[in-house]
Parts: sequence; C-alpha cells; structure tokens
Amino acid sequence: MSDTVRVHRREEIDTVNPEVHGHFAEHLGRCIYGGIWVGDDEEVPTTDGIREDTVELLTELGLNQLRWPGGCFADAYHWEDGVGPREERPSRPNDFWAQGREEEFTESNAFGTEEFMRLCELVDAEPFLAANVGSGAPDEASSWVEYCNSDADTTRARERAENGSEEPHDVAYWGVGNENWGCGGRFDPETYANEFRRFAHYMKLSGAEETVACGHIQEDWNRRFLAELTEPDLMDHLSVHRYFGRFGPECGSPTEFDEEEYYTLFAHSMQVGIDVDNVAAALDAYLSTDDVGIAVDEWGAWYPEATSENGLEQENTVRDAVAAAGVLDDFNHRADLISMANLAQTVNVLQCVVQTDEEDAWPTPTYQVLDLYSPHAGATAVRTAVETEEVETDLRDLPLVSASATVREGETNVTLSNRALDDARTVRVELDGDAGTATGEVLFDGQDPDDYSTRENADAFAASDLDVEEEDGDLLVELPPNSVAGLSVESA
Ligand code: AHR
Repeated sequence: MSDTVRVHRREEIDTVNPEVHGHFAEHLGRCIYGGIWVGDDEEVPTTDGIREDTVELLTELGLNQLRWPGGCFADAYHWEDGVGPREERPSRPNDFWAQGREEEFTESNAFGTEEFMRLCELVDAEPFLAANVGSGAPDEASSWVEYCNSDADTTRARERAENGSEEPHDVAYWGVGNENWGCGGRFDPETYANEFRRFAHYMKLSGAEETVACGHIQEDWNRRFLAELTEPDLMDHLSVHRYFGRFGPECGSPTEFDEEEYYTLFAHSMQVGIDVDNVAAALDAYLSTDDVGIAVDEWGAWYPEATSENGLEQENTVRDAVAAAGVLDDFNHRADLISMANLAQTVNVLQCVVQTDEEDAWPTPTYQVLDLYSPHAGATAVRTAVETEEVETDLRDLPLVSASATVREGETNVTLSNRALDDARTVRVELDGDAGTATGEVLFDGQDPDDYSTRENADAFAASDLDVEEEDGDLLVELPPNSVAGLSVESA
C-alpha cells in the first residue's frame, strides 16, 4: 500500500491567509458561558471573568481570528444589551439555543462586546463581529461599528471609554447577518441583497473595513443574490457554511459507526472544498474572485447527537480530527480563493478545540490537528498532487491519503493524513529538487478512530516523532491508520 505525494514547490497558489485558521464562538450551550466566561466563579482562575485555562490553550494554538456572537444568535442579538455595568444589563430569551444542559433558553448578557474584545486581546485573535440584520436595523449595526472603531469625540466612542476602552477596538471584519436565508430572517436572495446594500453602506460609513455577506451552499441562492447586488464594492467576502456528519448521508454517531459510515464522513467533509469551488464559480459569473474572498465562516463535524437541548455537545473523536485535516488541506489547495474560515465552535460545542468542566480545560484531538497545521498559516501554498487508492462511497470516491504543502523562507511544510480504517500506508513525498533535511511528527498513532479526549487522557493525543527516511531525493514515511502527519523540510 504505497502512495505518492508530489509537492511542486515552484508552483505557488497563494498565501494561506492566517484567518483561514479562525474559530467561531456563539452564545450557545457551554461555549461562551462555562467554557470561556465564568465571571466570579471561584472554581477556576480567571482574568476579568475569562477562564485562564481556556485562554492558555487557545493562545498556544494561535487562533488568528474569532467570530462572535453567532451564528443564529447574531440576528437576534442587540449589542447594546451587552455593554455597560453588568448588573444593569437586561436578561433576554436566547431564541435559538439552550444555555448548557438544562434547557434554559436565557441570555444574561454578562458577556458582551467589552468581554469579547478582552478575550481577543488575551488570546491574540482578530475579532470578527456578526451584526444583526434579521431582527435589527442598519443604524443599530452602524452604531456598533462606531462604538467599536470610532476615535472621534462622539457619544458612542465616549461610552466605550466609560466602559473601559479608551482606544478603539479597530474591528476590521463585520458579518452583515448570518444565514439570512434561514435562521437570520428567512430572506429570499433578492431581499437579502437589498438589505445587505443598506446595512453595508452605513456600516462602511461608520468604519467597517471589511464586510462579509451571507452566502449559501445552494448555488442558485448565491447567483440570485449576486445578480441583485448592484453595488458589489460594498462586499469584501462572501460566506458559505458546511457541516458534515449530519444534514447528509448517514455517518453514524461520533463513537459508533460501521465501515461504510466511517468512510462516508470523510467523503462528506470533502464537500467543504466543493462548496468553495461552487461559490467561486458564482462569483466569477457576476464579479471576480480577485475582488471578493470566500469566507467559510462555519465548518466542522455535527452529529445528530448534538441538539439544542444538550447545547450541541458531542464527543470529539480522532475520526473528526482526521476529517478536519483533510478540510485544511483542501483550504490550502484553494488558498487563492479562501479569505477566512471558522471552525465551529471553539469551546465545548460541536467540533470544538477545547473542552471544559468546572475545574479544568483540555484539548480535543482536533486541537492537535490545528496545532500541527499552524506552520501553514501565512505561508505560500504550493500545488500538491496525491496519487493514492480510493474507496467507493455513495457520495463520491474517497482518496485514502490527503496532503497539502506550503513554503516559507526555504522551509517546506507538508501535511498528510491516512484515512484508511485499518491499514498503515507508506507515502513517498517527492519534492521537486532534493528534499534536504526533514523532520516529522505524527498524531493518533495507535489510537482508534472513535477515541476522544477527556480531562484524564488528553495528553495521549499529542504529536509524537515520525521517522522520515530519505530515498533517491524523496522522503518516505509510514502513516499509521487514521493518523495525521506533518513534515518540515529545510531546503538542501
Ligand atoms: O453552529 C451552530 C449553528 O449552525 C449556527 O448558529 C448557525 O449559523 C448554523 O446553522
């Protein structure tokens, strides 16, 4: 069982925008409340109410960008509820999500704009705010931009200073709604195009540098939106969301799946890259992918087990992490198209990277993949071709090995994953020219695809050294079944 990965180091695709390794945190379940914000809770140490253990893990990972406050929650959220003295903030219903595991659909507003900005500062992430289009108004959205970004002597800027932030937050990225074809107001594409124009116009006037328009996995929706959008200069990014594991073919549960379901999850995850290609085709038909970036601002595994009632919690397994590796490879292959991507959702919810209980925080297997892939962020993606065996699934044929590569200052980073359920695979990596010195790391060697991390065993999911042999100027590695590897190669 041998495969070949050809890395064409001179065939550059584009820079991998660091924001492609972005994350998403919504007021949903235990993502914000419990996972990030505990206020005065004495069980865990905090900085201004934000859990230090979570911050430490997220900082080590290098989040790059964090999207907030939703999701569906964004189009029901009124930002003014979440600023000013905490004890005076109103309690509202959370129209979409239970907070935790107790079917408690309320929002205390304890975590608002200033708390989110503090979190971004602590973990060194670029903030990305999603404004309320569905139930809000353009002046509410533009006044949020003004509150965050204005350095003029206005009432909003003074309010920010009174709330502790003299200097503007300089938020560059602004979502103009979220899933406005669904939970964000059930707009048809033409109506959303007109609303987008109105909102983005005033938001830009108030200082929103880059706007993200809501797109769809349905091509027709995107095309109708773009046809109606007569002033495209207002749009900097067009979004698309894709969850795999649910809303499609049967992939089993996180920890129980047969062989067919095992492979179907990977085949389904390949849809993320295909969605990007479809959005790119729609953009090119009306505008240009040179002018508008594609924002995959929600993606990840979502199983039927994760429901609103349990705060969208599910076990996060090795299989999910290996699937994420393939998606990140697909992002590298499309570095010229994708401007940002946000894995859903940072802590405790869906395919999170960190999980918490009342005393501790620990990384998931997906955290380890993001960590292994971090050298790609900001580097230049190069064309990488994979020759491997394929497994037939109902959706599509699935290549058993996924790979991608980037170059930066004489160093080449290659990431590889073996999706085979039982078999190790020997992979020959050809780099055009002599390989040079190479080191390797591997994840999940000896672990099962349904293994997931807990507070007790999380360390076992960390990377270990991988033997990299040199043969005739190529590199040879043996990838264990359902594993992910990273190679770092210094030019000869
Ligand atoms: O991430 C959970 C939900 O999935 C988000 O709120 C929504 O945007 C999407 O449908």
